Amino acid sequence: MVDQAPRINGERLLRDLHDLRKFGARGTGVVRRSLTAVDVESRHWLVERMKDAGLDASIDGIGNVFGLSKKSGKALLVGSHTDTQPEGGWLDGTLGVMYGLEIARAFAENDSTQEFAVDVASWIDEEGTFSLGSLGSEYFCGLLADDALESAENEAGQSLLDALKEAGFDKTPRARLDSQRYAGYIEGHIEQGPYLEDEGKSIGVVTSIAGMRNLAFTFEGEQNHAGTAPMDRRKDACRKLIELAGRINHVLSDHVVPTTVWTIGQIELIPGSPNIVPGAAKMTLQIRDGEESRVEKLTSLVVNLAADLDDPEGVRIAVDPKADRMIGTVMDDGLRAHIERAAEHHVPGCWRLMPSAAGHDAQALATQIPSAMLFIPSIGGISHAFEEDTKEKDIVLGCQVLATAAASILRERR
Ligand code: GLV
Ligand code: MN
Ligand code: MN
Repeated sequence: MVDQAPRINGERLLRDLHDLRKFGARGTGVVRRSLTAVDVESRHWLVERMKDAGLDASIDGIGNVFGLSKKSGKALLVGSHTDTQPEGGWLDGTLGVMYGLEIARAFAENDSTQEFAVDVASWIDEEGTFSLGSLGSEYFCGLLADDALESAENEAGQSLLDALKEAGFDKTPRARLDSQRYAGYIEGHIEQGPYLEDEGKSIGVVTSIAGMRNLAFTFEGEQNHAGTAPMDRRKDACRKLIELAGRINHVLSDHVVPTTVWTIGQIELIPGSPNIVPGAAKMTLQIRDGEESRVEKLTSLVVNLAADLDDPEGVRIAVDPKADRMIGTVMDDGLRAHIERAAEHHVPGCWRLMPSAAGHDAQALATQIPSAMLFIPSIGGISHAFEEDTKEKDIVLGCQVLATAAASILRERR
């Protein structure tokens, strides 16, 4: 049974989402990399919105934005991230933060939920600009030590500590989770894939989140003249890179399931000229799979392939297993049941259980407190692209379902 569901204000939610979209807007999309000037500006904007909602709002020493409830009893933490990929959509992450804010406001306005404590969080750098995984949520959950922050830098070579200083966040303590405070963590997010839309469903209740590994390869050969170097004497880093990429695609195909994905997302030839045999090259590979043991197996297959192709007389290959791995995670059954019931209440038969193929802050939170996620459809299954979008009615519905679930969780656990 679902009772006394507080009504969220859809217009207010959409207005805030569109206001936040202006920070870093690029056409229909957004570029808001962690700790850039526009990201910092948007964090201050968010603090003001949280204060308007009656929350105790602040930005901590790592850039996480918190809006803490002043109510007593166990709190429910609701959040996601507001940073983006180098070319991002307007909803990836932002949606879940704004759901948290709207739920906190709706609860404060409703007699039956006024005393419920809802904390809102915007975790910094879920998109991994500083190559530490989901930096903000992992730090908060104690999965990253202070030492790990010291060597982190972004692609422009700016260190994380300098970026925090420039943002003015370095003077504030870095918050860590007090698990006693919380009944759990819930996160709303766009699906970022095609399945809800394909099946005409409006809500996805997440069962698990896929594991992910990132590998960075470097190739060292010999730079030479593209006209004069005979083919059989070249130590061409690009040829080796292509050979390894081809072998990876071939070998992985024999060991995967239909939901396994792998991506060669970055390639660089050095120095990069039509007239030069590249002496060095770089390539990244990312592997994701719902089964943690398969992610491990596929990763070691690739590492072995690279070792086989490494040639001490020709092109050398080195592999760096990057720190920004994500461990496959199962969502909490108890919290999930509340979201399922809320979905069935609002859209009977029009929701489904589903795994998440994308990574989320909920992965970090789930290591410490009960955590669960809700998805809404992505138009055309597009995300990490300026075209990312969702119908307004789905955005509003998702928030209402999460609000109903939040009330039912707090009624049970506070
Ligand atoms: C998160 O944005 C991911 O790439 O999974
Ligand atoms: Mn993302
Ligand atoms: Mn996201």
